[in-house]
Amino acid sequence: MSKLFISCALPYANGPCHLGHLRSTYIPADIYARFNRMNGVDTVMVCSSDEHGTPIAVRAEQENKDPIDIATYYHKVIEDDLKACNISLDSFRRTTDELHYEMAQDFFKTLYDKGYIYEKKIDQLYCDTCQRSLPDRYVEGICPYCDSEARGDQCEVCGRHLNPTELKEPHCLICDGTPHVQQSEQYYFKLHEFEEPLREWISNNDHLSSNIKNFAKEWIKDGLKDWVMTRDMNWGIPVPLEGAEGKVLYVWAEAFVGYQSSAGAWAKEHGLDWKEYWDDKTVHFIGKDIIYHHTIFWPSMLMGHDWKLPYSVVGGGYLSLEGQKMSTSRGWVIWVKDFLEKFDSDLLRYYMVINAPLSKDTDFSWDDFQRRINNELTDNLGNFIHRTFTFTNKFFDGKIPEPGRYDEIDKEFEAKIKALPDTVAEKIEEFEFRDGLLEIMTLTKEANKYFNDKKPWKGVKEDIESAKTCLYLSNQLVHELAVILTPYIPESAQKIREVLSMPVENVKGFTEFDERGPLVKWDESKEFLEPGHEIKKSKPLFKKIEDKVIKEEKDKLYALEQAEEEKEKDKKEEKNMSEQISIDEFGKVQLVVGQVKEAERIEGSDNLLKLQVDLGDEIRQIVAGLAKKYAPDEIIDRKVIVVANLKPAKLFGVQSNGMLLATDSMELLTTEGNVGEYIK
Ligand code: 2FM
Ligand code: ZN
Repeated sequence: MSKLFISCALPYANGPCHLGHLRSTYIPADIYARFNRMNGVDTVMVCSSDEHGTPIAVRAEQENKDPIDIATYYHKVIEDDLKACNISLDSFRRTTDELHYEMAQDFFKTLYDKGYIYEKKIDQLYCDTCQRSLPDRYVEGICPYCDSEARGDQCEVCGRHLNPTELKEPHCLICDGTPHVQQSEQYYFKLHEFEEPLREWISNNDHLSSNIKNFAKEWIKDGLKDWVMTRDMNWGIPVPLEGAEGKVLYVWAEAFVGYQSSAGAWAKEHGLDWKEYWDDKTVHFIGKDIIYHHTIFWPSMLMGHDWKLPYSVVGGGYLSLEGQKMSTSRGWVIWVKDFLEKFDSDLLRYYMVINAPLSKDTDFSWDDFQRRINNELTDNLGNFIHRTFTFTNKFFDGKIPEPGRYDEIDKEFEAKIKALPDTVAEKIEEFEFRDGLLEIMTLTKEANKYFNDKKPWKGVKEDIESAKTCLYLSNQLVHELAVILTPYIPESAQKIREVLSMPVENVKGFTEFDERGPLVKWDESKEFLEPGHEIKKSKPLFKKIEDKVIKEEKDKLYALEQAEEEKEKDKKEEKNMSEQISIDEFGKVQLVVGQVKEAERIEGSDNLLKLQVDLGDEIRQIVAGLAKKYAPDEIIDRKVIVVANLKPAKLFGVQSNGMLLATDSMELLTTEGNVGEYIK
């Protein structure tokens, strides 16, 4: 039996799932998993929550919590969200699990032992107030490429990956202070060595979609720079090397291994070998924002290990909301949990697939959602199924009739019914999930027309043979739909099976090990039910969504956005207020005219100068972050303004008893006043 390893991008354990996550990654992965299981492929679908990295560490610090507590809380929230959408994961673990630590450290160590990782001193940002280095999201500033506000690791506006030291006007996210550049030793991965094999893999892999290929080719074209795989922080997996104390693996250097450790934990529990799945066929489902990581970093890391590369990487496009970019901080977002309080998960699954091809960006709009559910699911699909069942119950005693003679229309309809499962299968195999669903919806539309044209309600009185054929074929299509809709809308498919008196299976939540068969096989869709097969009484499968329900949702969304905007405004005002100081407070600051007598660089820092400043009645030692702007002898004899009563501090191990005034861009403030004179 062939095996399949499906991974879903690991969600950061710092927030619940919103519709964008489901659309880009989890629903498509689930369709693919269910389809393959139905076709007898021994499938394992895995995920974990991504619990390290600065997103969680920063949040923990800001909220004065322990990162593990945040991660534990959201791991459960995410698990509930995914279960509620029937994402049939076999394994959902955590990157803080012991096995993950072990496997991630092994992975790194192997690359190191093979000579793909080396040490190098680099510039980093360091915050003196917090006495720590500021990796990634610990720092924000201005993007040097597009001048927008950006985080230390990436600019969301122009999309570029950044190094914190590249930011203009950087500030520490914890204390708002200005960090300075300091050197530190980190571990680098020789990414550039994989340029050629990567290029080959990307060009020759027919299973990669063109959007993925195009992105990846573009990146490789620019040449690949070696990649820093470690960070100076304490939240993360320790670097498993001697002399690397205080360093952890960069979250992206271990998260990928989360796919394998999740499968590893599952396999261990059930006496299986996860590697057999990996080695047969692996598909990664991800969102578009992390295509770079999965087509450049991860395959290179795998090559370094001599491990098999994925069969494909499937990247879902972005989802906007009512025409605007989603923003969790602005409240412009729909959380899965809130959505499911009002609507069945199948409605979400249907809409998110039919809405646009997976690789394209698309929009969630409440009006469009209502339109598609009402016109397509209810009026088209639901209606065809319901009229077939009602008619069979009413005129054929709840039994599928023996077909009568076939005319050309019947023959054509039957041929289409027979062709559909293979067409849909082909689309799903090619990750064209929307196309598969469109094929299904097109045939149900035609089926409604067939039913209308055949007029079996007349037929039962005037031409019973024709009516029998019509209901025989219609029931066959309904049965087929109850199979091939399972990957798309599993709960509804089971409801149809129930009425058809066919065995029903549990499609809810994650997959239980002993239920992963599954019961319903894809090929059952090609088998016609026997005449005489009994069906049950039925209720309409879908209900129309009323205008007032949609209005409520829209109002809620806009109200939430407004509330968030106001909160934001209040916060700003509060900040401004707290930034205003009284004259008395200002009076406490002793500003004195000084003159620089000596200046020298501080070893190991390219930012700091050690100065001896004459204050009239004493010489003060002051450490100042001016080395980037001024050479030591440029500064000697200058008259400067000194904050004389600042608490002493040690910078880079050197005592500093005061501060010089300078602008944000490090222009020194000078004066023509007399040395020792107080400034009022
Ligand atoms: O971008 C993200 O949300 C990451 N947490 C995805 C990690 S996927 C993988 F590599 F593990
Ligand atoms: Zn700080």
